[in-house]
Amino acid sequence: MIALSARNCRDFIKCALDAISSRMSKPVDAGSSRSEPGASRHGNFIDYYRFHPAEERMRQIPEAIYESAGPSPMFVALDIGCNTGDLTLELYKFLSKNLPERKISIIGIDLDPVLIERAQEKNDQFESVTFVCIDFFSNDRENVLSSYLSERHKKRFDASFCFSITMWIHLNKGDAGLELFLRDVCSCSEVVLVEPQPWRCYRSAARRLRRANLGDFPLLEGLEYRDEVQRHIEKILRDQCKFRRLHVSEKNEWQRRLILYKRCHDERTHEDSA
Ligand SMILES: C[S@@+](CC[C@H](N)C(=O)[O-])C[C@H]1O[C@@H](n2cnc3c(N)ncnc32)[C@H](O)[C@@H]1O
Repeated sequence: MIALSARNCRDFIKCALDAISSRMSKPVDAGSSRSEPGASRHGNFIDYYRFHPAEERMRQIPEAIYESAGPSPMFVALDIGCNTGDLTLELYKFLSKNLPERKISIIGIDLDPVLIERAQEKNDQFESVTFVCIDFFSNDRENVLSSYLSERHKKRFDASFCFSITMWIHLNKGDAGLELFLRDVCSCSEVVLVEPQPWRCYRSAARRLRRANLGDFPLLEGLEYRDEVQRHIEKILRDQCKFRRLHVSEKNEWQRRLILYKRCHDERTHEDSA
């Protein structure tokens, strides 16, 4: 369990200030925001799971997620951009059901302190599921995640989940940020499940932000990874991260696929036999 250290408190306060300033620096015009409820800079929608019920999304999760796990008695997962935690808690149930002999631990992270507070409030699995407010790009992320792993005697996460987050990273951090994100996720993971948003969602996210008077995404027009975003992500995962595709799901009702990638050379070692 992560202790609430001075560093975690600092992270939390920094997250809170960042989120408040990002919400306040360009106040939402009431009319625009009512007419554009989907406007957001980071995808930090407060009512996300009212529109995307977490239980329904579990139907797409590939069995290969747990089939490829090593023999360790513990399965440790990371959910990046966990929002209010509904999907993280469903993932916990799914993994517990399918790996009944393992102890499951999941850490969900999100940059928005309000969303994390909600996730913590609804967390009925607090011994196994942890929610931490942290921006994936913050300097402390590596420390937070490596402490979480080492407390569980793990070198890497058995699985990392990137559900509907790649577009927000890409829009805010550009092509180089997307590459860095994927490389960093892969470096601490055995398998990675990605649900990339297609290119048309980028345009619609920008349109909604503009209509809500929240500015724009300054990097959007200069992005070289465009149109077939899924293909670009796959190329980064293959060429830069040395991960290979294991499984592609059918499209869900909002036309997105889940794609599972696995580290090419299996370097599982000591901790798996611990
Ligand atoms: C569209 S929501 C998806 C929520 C969840 N992953 C799902 O698919 O059900 C994207 C989430 O990613 C979070 N997010 C965006 N950029 C992030 C970053 N750099 N670090 C951590 N979380 C981030 C947002 O706050 C938001 O809650």
